[in-house]
Amino acid sequence: MQTIIADMTNQIDEKEMAQAGKILKEGGLVAFPTETVYGLGANALDEQAAFKIYAAKGRPSDNPLIVHIARMEDLYKIVQTVPEEAVKLADKFWPGPLTMIFQKKEIVPYGTTGGLDTVAVRMPNHPVALKMIEAGGGYIAAPSANTSGRPSPTTAQHVADDMDGKIEMILDGGSVGIGVESTIVDLSTGVPTILRPGYINKAMLEEVVGQVEIDPTLLSADCKQRPKAPGMRYKHYAPKADMVIVEGEEENVISYINDRICEELKKGNCPGVIASDETRHRYCGGAVKSMGSRSDELSISRHLYAVLREFDEQQVSCIFSEAFETPNLGQAIMNRMVKAAGHQIIRV
Ligand code: TXA
Ligand code: MG
Repeated sequence: MQTIIADMTNQIDEKEMAQAGKILKEGGLVAFPTETVYGLGANALDEQAAFKIYAAKGRPSDNPLIVHIARMEDLYKIVQTVPEEAVKLADKFWPGPLTMIFQKKEIVPYGTTGGLDTVAVRMPNHPVALKMIEAGGGYIAAPSANTSGRPSPTTAQHVADDMDGKIEMILDGGSVGIGVESTIVDLSTGVPTILRPGYINKAMLEEVVGQVEIDPTLLSADCKQRPKAPGMRYKHYAPKADMVIVEGEEENVISYINDRICEELKKGNCPGVIASDETRHRYCGGAVKSMGSRSDELSISRHLYAVLREFDEQQVSCIFSEAFETPNLGQAIMNRMVKAAGHQIIRV
């Protein structure tokens, strides 16, 4: 299959957008930018189209997809009831990086929800995404547009690296703004519960709906319960090289990592280091990559997946990473980093 790449970085090309809509309505796949990561879209109400997503990604088909909508009124056509909290959250955060879980209506096929009676819905905040959803019929199922087991794509080039030849079209909207996937909140039972941390954090949600809980499996590595978002329990992305997160006072972290870099260099290896703009020049060797300035949390989240992809292309022997427990986005960033490191964290 020849994958068409449509450049919409500066403005939406109406002709190519109409073509994307046609592909989606005919059951094909179109990758598109959102404010979080690139998505791999298909008609959410067409079970066969949803199956194509699983095939292109190599993803287990019991891992449910998020349905993307462009208008609030469309929510009522696919879910049983819209709790009052959901209306308030949608008012405040949609379009935006928030996904909410509802009881589904029959019109949503089980192929889209991975066999669940609930459906995840989000209205993304990106002009290209919103236009494409409307052009494609209003309901677009989309996981992140990476091959299963690779970091989520934050540029159209990342999508092409994974999906070229497997999907009909890629809409290039440039680099994404946030870089980690949306916050998922379950509203289908009692107290709103965060199933996946993202840009919209607990404090922001609580300002709108009062008490919010966090799925306990997110808080501890050895929790015996199953995560409520099925995708959170799959073996997640792990870099090819062994990765360790080093936590502690900045000076201790730098000197610990420098000792380890020296050991690796003596063995003739090239270690990788994930640093920040403030610290990058303080490492004595190896492949040092900065996630950006610690004073700019969005820069950190935006660079995370790209940095991990770069290390996979370079032959590093292992990766040492600083921790990024930043005030607002820290939980979302560290959730992804800890998984990438397979929970290997050293305190110094
Ligand atoms: O930011 C995002 O959410 C991106 C962009 C493309 O919108 N999408 C995304 O999709 O991250 P994906 O498929 O990579 O992650 C969807 C997550 C999975 O962890 C899945 O298990 C969970 O949402 N999920 C979907 N439907 C669910 C449901 N009914 N109940 C619980 N979890 C659900
Ligand atoms: Mg994903």
